[in-house]
Amino acid sequence: MVLQIMVHRNSSMISNHSIYSLEGITFMFNEEFRLKNPIRWGMVGGGRGSEIGHSHRAAASRDNLFQLLAGAFDIDPIRGQDFGQNLGLEPERCYPDYQTLFAEEAKRTDGIQAVSIATPNSTHFTISMAALEAGIHVICEKPVSFTVAEAKELKETAELKNCIFAVMYGYTGFPMIHQARKMVEKGELGDIRMVAMQFAHGFNSGDDSPGASWRMNPEISGPTFVLGDLGTHTFYLGELITGLKVDKLCCSRQSFVKSRAPLEDNAHVMMNFEGGAVGTLWASAVNAGSMHQQKIRVTGSKASIEWWDEYPNQLRYEIQGKPAQILERGMGYLHNESSAVSCNRIGGGHGEGFFESWANLYHRYALAIEAKQKDEITPNQPWYPDIDAGINGVRLLECCVESTDNDNKWVKF
Ligand SMILES: NC(=O)c1ccc[n+]([C@@H]2O[C@H](COP(=O)([O-])OP(=O)(O)OC[C@H]3O[C@@H](n4cnc5c(N)ncnc54)[C@H](O)[C@@H]3O)[C@@H](O)[C@H]2O)c1
Repeated sequence: MVLQIMVHRNSSMISNHSIYSLEGITFMFNEEFRLKNPIRWGMVGGGRGSEIGHSHRAAASRDNLFQLLAGAFDIDPIRGQDFGQNLGLEPERCYPDYQTLFAEEAKRTDGIQAVSIATPNSTHFTISMAALEAGIHVICEKPVSFTVAEAKELKETAELKNCIFAVMYGYTGFPMIHQARKMVEKGELGDIRMVAMQFAHGFNSGDDSPGASWRMNPEISGPTFVLGDLGTHTFYLGELITGLKVDKLCCSRQSFVKSRAPLEDNAHVMMNFEGGAVGTLWASAVNAGSMHQQKIRVTGSKASIEWWDEYPNQLRYEIQGKPAQILERGMGYLHNESSAVSCNRIGGGHGEGFFESWANLYHRYALAIEAKQKDEITPNQPWYPDIDAGINGVRLLECCVESTDNDNKWVKF
């Protein structure tokens, strides 16, 4: 996907520059670049006590590009409405369910333009479809659906309704991921040979925490547990950094805690990419003692790079025959023309983290929504994790299940 957005002076973007470009700029993200009217925004899910609701709100509000005006925050209507009011929303815009949210907001001249969906997996497809049909831009949690066929339906409907469909692959907003991507693109690693991906925590090594319960239930989680919950994140990092496309894969998955069957709490995947490179993906919730261990290592004919989400401001760069280097976010030696630089929010040495990465993505969603609404310069869309990324995540899961169900056979992707 082309990596630039240009928004002209006569648009509603306030800027002292004649061209606003996310890539190819050397200044940091800040609130100077804002929309005259922030995008009217709502949420489904992400209510009181949810794991990920706050991250969406913190990220969306960071650059004043979204304004939270309405929501159906909870499966329990009373709790959801109470929660919305405590967030400062008008009581009549705290709805008991998503159907009422979309129907009532459609009647208003100031109804929501975009919605984030932060509910358990089984609801993503239905709620996203309802939002799109109401003409509302969607930012959806992963996996976007249970099947590839459904994910493709979402894409078709989004196109029909001229809406963006963004997927919350939240780690892809880290600047050093974009440095990695640029290094691969510029051939600094040589020809890519191997991609090792892992997201292997230990939080479910023993008994399940209450928050994990729906993740172990196939009716709510879908056909997988850790592959969908964790593997899709790192798989997308691999796709984004290398641009490689999987040709076929072979998967082995287990339920080490037997009560979780048929859902896996550990999985290993081998992949052959088109063009000859190979890859592995390890997703696990039973890597005892591990906090996150989300890592990606890309190895080329000349050098390797390695990124670890517990140290997201750094990228390890190993050139064959030379001492290893640690590249740091916010430094002048990074590729200027990539988001490694344009997404910085503070100088190097300070610790940017998860919320900044998410805010970087929400910043892009806002620009994409603005461009979509104005039908602006279509070849120059800003990059963001879109519905194609969502479709491929679901395809990964389908292929892994097919492989495991068939004695770990190799499956065409
Ligand atoms: N992108 C990430 O890094 C990341 C991290 C954690 C979770 N997630 C994803 O986010 C989603 C939510 O996960 P979680 O851990 O926050 O779950 P959770 O169980 O902690 O919270 C879910 C929230 O959704 C509400 N809800 C459920 N059904 C609803 C409905 N029909 N209408 C309105 N509200 C409803 C619940 O009341 C609760 O507030 C999942 O799909 C998960 O995969 C993504």
